[in-house]
Amino acid sequence: MRALVSGGAGFIGSHLVDALLAAGHEVVVLDDFSSGRPENVARHVADPRFRLVRGDVRDRGLLRDALRGCDVAFHLAAVVGVRHYVEDPLRVMSVGADGTAAILAAAWEAGARVVFASTSEVYGRNPEQPLVEGAARLLGDTSVDRWCYATAKALGEHLCFGYRRRGLPVVVLRYFNAYGPRAKESAYGGVVPRFIRQALAGGPITVFGDGLQTRSFTYVEDTVRGTLAAALEERAAGEVFNIGHPEETPIARLAERVRDLTGSPARIARLPYESFYGESYEDVRRRVPSVEKAGHVLGFKPRVALDEGLALTIDWCRSRNPAASGRRNLGEREGGRRDHDPFEPAQ
Ligand SMILES: NC(=O)c1ccc[n+]([C@@H]2O[C@H](COP(=O)([O-])OP(=O)(O)OC[C@H]3O[C@@H](n4cnc5c(N)ncnc54)[C@H](O)[C@@H]3O)[C@@H](O)[C@H]2O)c1
Repeated sequence: MRALVSGGAGFIGSHLVDALLAAGHEVVVLDDFSSGRPENVARHVADPRFRLVRGDVRDRGLLRDALRGCDVAFHLAAVVGVRHYVEDPLRVMSVGADGTAAILAAAWEAGARVVFASTSEVYGRNPEQPLVEGAARLLGDTSVDRWCYATAKALGEHLCFGYRRRGLPVVVLRYFNAYGPRAKESAYGGVVPRFIRQALAGGPITVFGDGLQTRSFTYVEDTVRGTLAAALEERAAGEVFNIGHPEETPIARLAERVRDLTGSPARIARLPYESFYGESYEDVRRRVPSVEKAGHVLGFKPRVALDEGLALTIDWCRSRNPAASGRRNLGEREGGRRDHDPFEPAQ
C-alpha cells in the first residue's frame, strides 16, 4: 500500500515509517519538524519508495497533494508533551482540531482509510480501571489548561466518527504512554526518557507528586504493531482501540527500575507538580488499558516487557551520549555538586 504518515519524523511516526518500508509499502511523510527530527527519517531519503514533504498538516492544499494516490493516512502529527499543554494551549488545540479536520477532508477526497493517533488522555480522570473503549470521559474544568490536549483529541475522534457516518473507513487508536529509542529527551518528552537522561547524568531522578500515580508503559514496537494492524484489518474500520501494555506501573517504581537498569547511583527526589507544570496542573492517578478489544479484532498483544524495553531504550540513550555512563555521578567527577538537571527549570 501507499501510506501518508503525518508526524512521520517524530518519535512514534518514524518507527511506523521504518515498519511500513520494511514491509514493502510506499511512504509519504508530512511533518513540519516542530518536534520531529530529520535524523529520524534520514536513512530513508535515498529510498525511491519514500517521500518527505515538509509542511503543516493544517495546510489543506499541501495535504491534498501529499495524499494523492494513498490508500491510508496515519495521522500522528500533534503537539505532544504535557508541558506544551500548559504553555501553549492554542497551538495544541489548533494542530489537534484543525489538523485532524484537514486530514479527514483530504482523505475523504482521496478515498483513503484514516488511522488516527488519539490518546489515553481522552479518558481523563475516569477512576474505573482498566479502561475499556466505551468508558466515560471525565475531564476537569476548561480553565485548567492541562485538559486542552485531551479535548482536542476527543474532538478529533468525533470528527473521525462524523466522516465514518459518511462512509470513510476510519480507525481511532488510543495510545498509552509509548516509550523507546527516539523518544524526546527534552523537558517536553515523556517520563521514561527524562528518567533515563537524569539517571545517566548522575541524578537526581525527579518524581512529581507522591510517585504512587500509575501509568502503563508501552514499548514503541508494540505501539507500531497495533497501528499497522489497524490499517490492514478490515473489521477495524469505524472502531476505537486502546493500544497499550496492560501492566500498571507506579511512577516511583519506574524511577527505581531506571536507576537499577542504568546502574546509576542517582537519588530519587520527590517534587510537587507545581514546581514544573505550574499551578494549573491536575494529576491523573491511574491509567491502565484493557486491550481485550484490540486483541480480539486486531490480534494485538504487547510483546515487550517493561525491563526489556527500558534496557533497549537505555542502550540507545547511551549510544547517543557515550560519556553519560550513569555509573558515577558526573557532578562529583567534575569536582562539584550537580544535582540540577540542565533541561529542568530551576526548582
Ligand atoms: N508518545 C506517547 O506516549 C503518545 C501517547 C498518546 C498519544 N500519542 C499520539 O501519538 C502521536 C505521535 O506522538 P509522538 O510521541 O511520536 O510525538 P512527537 O512529538 O515525536 O511526534 C509528533 C510529530 O508531529 C509533528 N508535527 C507537530 N505539529 C505539526 C504540524 N502542525 N504539521 C505537521 N507536523 C507536525 C512534529 O514535528 C512531530 O514530528 C501524536 O498524535 C500523539 O498525540 C502519543
